[in-house]
Formats: sequence, C-alpha cells, structure tokens
Amino acid sequence: MFESLKSLQADPILGLMAAFRQDGNPRKVDLGVGVYKDEAGHTPIMQAVLKADASHRAEENSKTYVGPTGDPQFNQQIQQLILGEDCVPARDNRARTVQAPGGCGALRVAAELINRAKPGAAIWVSDPTWANHVPLLGNAGLEIRTYPYYDAASQGMKFDAMCEAFKKIGAGDLVLLHGCCHNPCGVDLSPAQWDEVATIALKQGFTPFIDLAYLGLGLGLTEDAYGVRKMAATVPELVVASSCSKNFGLYRERVGALTVISPNVTEADMAHVHIQNVARGIYSMPPNYGAALTGRILAGANLRREWDTELTAMRNRINGLRMQLAEKFRARLGHGRFDFIPAQRGMFSFLGLDKDQVHRLQREYSVYMVDSSRINVAGISQQNIDYFIDAVAAVL
Ligand code: LMR
Repeated sequence: MFESLKSLQADPILGLMAAFRQDGNPRKVDLGVGVYKDEAGHTPIMQAVLKADASHRAEENSKTYVGPTGDPQFNQQIQQLILGEDCVPARDNRARTVQAPGGCGALRVAAELINRAKPGAAIWVSDPTWANHVPLLGNAGLEIRTYPYYDAASQGMKFDAMCEAFKKIGAGDLVLLHGCCHNPCGVDLSPAQWDEVATIALKQGFTPFIDLAYLGLGLGLTEDAYGVRKMAATVPELVVASSCSKNFGLYRERVGALTVISPNVTEADMAHVHIQNVARGIYSMPPNYGAALTGRILAGANLRREWDTELTAMRNRINGLRMQLAEKFRARLGHGRFDFIPAQRGMFSFLGLDKDQVHRLQREYSVYMVDSSRINVAGISQQNIDYFIDAVAAVL
C-alpha cells in the first residue's frame, strides 16, 4: 500500500544535520540545528545531569509504568520554575502541568486539547516562527495564521504592527508567543512590551500560548520567564509548552511539559483529564528517565545550584560570542552590518543573507546554516570564528 506515498523533501533543519555529518571537510562549521555546543564543538552532558543520573540509578527500584501525567516531582518543579514561587493561578489551584515527550510533545498535546475544545481553532504564529510549529499545531487540526513580527530591515521587531494585529484577534483564537530567545530570529519582547501584549490579550480575550524552549539561555532564568509570568498574572487562560532539551542538555531524552492555566478549578480539572486522555491516545505515557533527572536536579538544593551555574556559563558563552561576532565582523568589513547580533537573545540570529549566499557558504566553505540564514551562535568557537567571518565576507 505504501507505493501510493509521495516523496518528501528532507526537514530543513534535520536534513542539514545529516548533510553536515556527511561532509568530510575538517574545517566544516555547524551553525544549523539548535543545540548548545561548547568551545570544542561538543554538546556536553551537564555535570548536574550526571550526578542526578547516579543517584537516580542507585535509587530507582522499578520500571513499572508511571502514568500519562509523568513524574509528579518533575511536574511540580517545572511548574514552579516557569511560573515562579508566587504565581496566583498556581496558588488558586488553576494551573495544571503534565510531563510531555519534549517541547514538541507538549505543543502537540496542547494542539489536540485545543482542537477538542474548539475544532479548527485559529492559532496565530509570528512571522517567522520555528518551522516545526506549523505541522505540530496544524496537523492536529488548528488553523495557522500569522502576525507580523520580525523586521528584516532593522533586524528588530514590528511591534506596532504586531499589536495592531493582536487588536483584531478575539476570544476563541490563540496567539503563539515565544517566551524568550525567539526561534528563528533572536528578537525578544522587552518587559514593557510583554506588559502591553498582556494588556491587549486580556482586553481582546484571546488565549496566549507560550512556547518556552530556551528558558535561561537569554538573559537569566528569572528574566527569561518574565513574559510567561506576566501573562499568568494577567489573563484567565494560558497555555505553556516548555522544554528541557536545551537548558538541561537533555535533547535525546525528550523532556518537556505542558502547563495550562484555566479561569477556575473546574475547567482546570477538565483540561487535566483531557490532556491525559490525549496523551493516552498518542503515546500513552511519556518517557521517564530525563524527567526523573530534571525533577531531581530542581528539587535538590546542591544539584540545582550546580545546574544553574552550568546554565549561566552556557548563556555567558553565547552572549560573549554575540559580542565577539559583531566586533570581528566590524573589523573585517569596516562597517556595522552585523552590529545587531549582541542585541538578540538565545541561540539564533538571522544573518540577512540570501539563499544563494547560504548555499555558497555550504558548498564552498562547509559552513552550514538554515536557508533563511539563521545561525546557531553556539556553533561558533575560537577555532572557527575567523574562518566563519572570512567565509561570510567572501559571499557578501
Ligand atoms: C532548532 O530549531 O534547530 C531546534 O529547535 C531543533 C529542532 O528540532 O528543529
């Protein structure tokens, strides 16, 4: 029967990963997929994770099922990490957090839940957004619409146009916002802009849906949670899909969570039951290992401190590289075309190159980035930065 299937193009990000692996050039530079890398180009296992793994192995005495909501310690800790200690909806028992297989799993379960509540509901995503948002949300039946966001001319945000678009969206629609470290453009809302968007959301009555995949990799754990906490304090209903892939370096373990805030306890309970039912119908239960480690790290004072220190080092490395890139580009080119890089947050920035330039970089220099010219800043190191700058200068 499968002869009827049509051939597909490779996923733009995963296809790049495969092409990079096959490239024999010793100078190759991987700025494609969004994974953190250290100075040696390696994606390390965090020390806090290794320690949590040792105690987990020593104590785990069964492999029996955990259940569709996942690890209770993880759920409680993640909810607190995201919403903070003094979150009113959490105190009022209106927040429910359920473990999911990665941020992607959380996005998909949320989309299925929304589609049950309102089949074909419209979800507004930023222009541009992470490419996988479209299938993750759209394949569940939601209708994808876009709102203005990135301004390529200024490498900033179309904030006014975005707010104007939001003022035309009403109750029953959802607006997907990137909690921090916007993927793919790195342009984030400031606290004042979050305040404004939260006010509009409350007035218009749409449901904000925040994707929080890079918490702690922008400005800090508290700073990066500003938007989600502001929304939680402002609107009656909120959806948050969060991931521990990047900030715990647990990519392949698939650790994520879906948090839903509802206007009252009855609706919160109803959402909770449906989330479990959705999960049961897709993957039954999330994998336990990564969430067990994450829950352990967040619950243990020493491990948590150690994790925070490691995360801070990762963030500082990325932000240091952003400064260095701007300085080196300026010195190499004699102008400030890339001065915007340090003002952006997280792993990603658009270089503003066209597709031909991106393809030349790959073909002639083995420098890999997404066709949109999105780079993963963490893929830069002291070994490859000059080579990278020269390669970009050559194709400009
Ligand atoms: C990315 O945008 O590169 C990451 O979120 C990894 C992925 O799955 O696409």
